[in-house]
Amino acid sequence: MARLDVVEIFHGISFPGHLHTQDSLQRAVEFPFQDTDIVIVSYPKSGTTWMQELVTLISSRGNPHLSQTVPNWTRAPWLEQFYLASVLEASTITPRVITTHLSQGLLSSALQVSKAKVIYVSRNPKDVAVSFYHFHKIANFLPDAGSFPEFLNKFLEGKLQYGCWFDHVKGWTSQTTSMDNLLHITYEEMSLDLRGVTEKVSSFLQCPLVDDEVNNCVAHCSFNSMKDNKMVNYTLVAEEIMDHKKGSFMRKGKIGDWKNMFTEEQNQYFDDVFKSKMQDCPLEFIWEDQ
Ligand code: A3P
Repeated sequence: MARLDVVEIFHGISFPGHLHTQDSLQRAVEFPFQDTDIVIVSYPKSGTTWMQELVTLISSRGNPHLSQTVPNWTRAPWLEQFYLASVLEASTITPRVITTHLSQGLLSSALQVSKAKVIYVSRNPKDVAVSFYHFHKIANFLPDAGSFPEFLNKFLEGKLQYGCWFDHVKGWTSQTTSMDNLLHITYEEMSLDLRGVTEKVSSFLQCPLVDDEVNNCVAHCSFNSMKDNKMVNYTLVAEEIMDHKKGSFMRKGKIGDWKNMFTEEQNQYFDDVFKSKMQDCPLEFIWEDQ
């Protein structure tokens, strides 16, 4: 029975109760990672599904069979969701690909004792906020988004489910120099140079590909191809949980859509908050399509 109106608060961060329990969250932070695991980490709406698809295709050497026949939540299950153990038990897919939105602080001890390969995906936060706002409208397991200005304030204050974007990004990217098994990829890099990202990720995963295999990965990871793939576009999810009449999971897939939503004042306020919260973080973001 879906617990659509239940919220689980874990270490001060709220999670949707239909897929998370205190027990599943606790098991996630104590998870026995294997050295061969590939872990995709992101704040919501940063390109998680895109990276799940790319990693599946790279591991399949560009052959789309797995990505077109097995839903992404089964081939790259969520660490913190309650069904993880049963999916992993039933799966024969190797290497294991595990996805998570948990913060670096919550996962640091579990990851410290393994050589699992971690891919952190980030996206410019203005586009994250806009994408998350639209996602709240179709996801019945998330609270009512309210108006966009209200939502944007909550985003900047770190009051949305899955926690604060600033803490998430700063926590994970601060590890890139100390963890040699961590690769940071941005949504914008994927958008501007998917071939380059495919080569980078395949080399990080020690799965070198020939040109044709790279071409196949790139083709099957295009927005249009993923939009039509039921195994990743979330249309297999019951309408009670995601209302596809209200919008698509694969919505626009663009850099800079925030420009269609932000007023000048909102943009100025966002820039001020961003500057103050990111002053200790040297990351550069791409805010618009070039
Ligand atoms: P938009 O809402 O801006 O369109 P996540 O998987 O982390 O929830 O992120 C979802 C966002 O990634 C959505 O952004 C979705 O359209 C975008 N996305 C997914 N696959 C993509 C692809 N192949 N190309 C471009 N964007 C993609």
